[in-house]
Amino acid sequence: MNVLRNDLQRMAAAAEAAFHPTDPWRPNIHLAPPVGWLNDPNGLCYFRDEYHVFYQYSPFDPEGGVKFWGHYKSKDLISWEQCPVMLCPDEPFDVHGAYSGSALCKDGGLYLYYTGNVKHDGDFDYVHIGRESNTVLAYSADGVNLDWKCLLLQNKDYPPEATLHVRDPKVWKQGRKYYMVQGTRTQEDIGAALIFESEDGLQWKHINTLRTSSPFGYMWECPDLFELDGQWILMVCPQGVQRPEPGYENRYTCGYFPLYGDFRGKYTLGDFVPLDYGFDFYAPQTFQVGNRRLLTAWMGMADAEYTNPTTAYGWQHCLTVLRELRFEYGQLRMRPVRELDALRDEPRIYPFSNQLSVELPELADIQINCEGELTLRLSGISLKAEGDKLTLAIQEGGYGRNTRKALTGRLQNLRILMDTSALEIFANDGEAVFSTRWYPAEEHRSLTLYGTGRAVIYDLRPMEIRRRLDAEDLFLI
Ligand code: FRU
Repeated sequence: MNVLRNDLQRMAAAAEAAFHPTDPWRPNIHLAPPVGWLNDPNGLCYFRDEYHVFYQYSPFDPEGGVKFWGHYKSKDLISWEQCPVMLCPDEPFDVHGAYSGSALCKDGGLYLYYTGNVKHDGDFDYVHIGRESNTVLAYSADGVNLDWKCLLLQNKDYPPEATLHVRDPKVWKQGRKYYMVQGTRTQEDIGAALIFESEDGLQWKHINTLRTSSPFGYMWECPDLFELDGQWILMVCPQGVQRPEPGYENRYTCGYFPLYGDFRGKYTLGDFVPLDYGFDFYAPQTFQVGNRRLLTAWMGMADAEYTNPTTAYGWQHCLTVLRELRFEYGQLRMRPVRELDALRDEPRIYPFSNQLSVELPELADIQINCEGELTLRLSGISLKAEGDKLTLAIQEGGYGRNTRKALTGRLQNLRILMDTSALEIFANDGEAVFSTRWYPAEEHRSLTLYGTGRAVIYDLRPMEIRRRLDAEDLFLI
């Protein structure tokens, strides 16, 4: 038995008992950490008739710290259960963090591939010297309790073109083989994606490296690679791409390249397309369930200049709602999963011309069809559609968030999922999406629309999120 793991799990459970039930910003249709810090979604899968969402988790500090894997599961995507932390940094090969990774359901068990982060003490640059990026495999027979972990790959096993920055394995099965894509920073400080192949999911061989014809950032984090509607997609989070254009205004970028050819051999990457235009969107991960490809992402941004007042309540960040992906009209489009419709009350329908003002509860699903230009105001936020430009501006409650832009065709429809402190805005059926946190001062919200069209508003019920506050865990400590 791993004694450190037991202690760390109990410490995390004890920290979780500080969960603040009367917190005004706690989201009701988004998954957030019970306490502490959350970043990337990890290990997304459908295993034994349940959806599993793991996430990068620092239970002891809302400002971050050494990473664990937190865990929620659900049968229907609208009622969730908080599970014990799945991965703790409890081995020499992951002692400074169980970093991001993915899940593979195989032979009735759950295999989790992730990066074991190790940073040595000393005067190092931590790029060429001083750190380890280990590829680790963890196994759980029941999807909730960890059975074992083992070290699969170390830096010496990666190709020499990679620096010590290699991380975030995404693994899938294709035909009779297994594939893994990992993000890297090359010796020339260029972002790239390493492709590995395996017969059994245990022995891996580097077979290719995906890169752009001219450099695109110095590091690619959280790669994902999949085929959807006949198009191969390489999703990455490039660091070091700074442009004033829409989609590049955040500290770090996130989007995809269409991939033509074979990722195992000859291929070309098309132009990079940003995936979301809001302030808070990073490290998306997808997974396949039947014929659907679903995605969730971190609704946050590393090293951002804006903040979140939730830190006063002991936690920070959440995940986006689950979204279904399609490749259509030559682009990747995301829409909230249809399961969320079950949270709706009866619709209120408002045709409008010139101006409409409506009072709203804290949780709402707002759908607007419009003709031509539209301005929307919503408790401290405005969204303006002019020509092919959509501008989101936060006047109040942004905690440093100001404006973001997106380019779209003429605005025809909007769907807004509004939570206590999170907004997801889908324009033209997912042609452009803005994900953002915001913290409106007043409890009641009001929506004003200037333009012509029709609004349908559904009040939403909260998702059920069953907490794990069992006294047993506390007595054990
Ligand atoms: C992306 C990221 C990953 C890493 C993880 C650590 O947000 O930096 O590359 O695995 O977060 O928490």
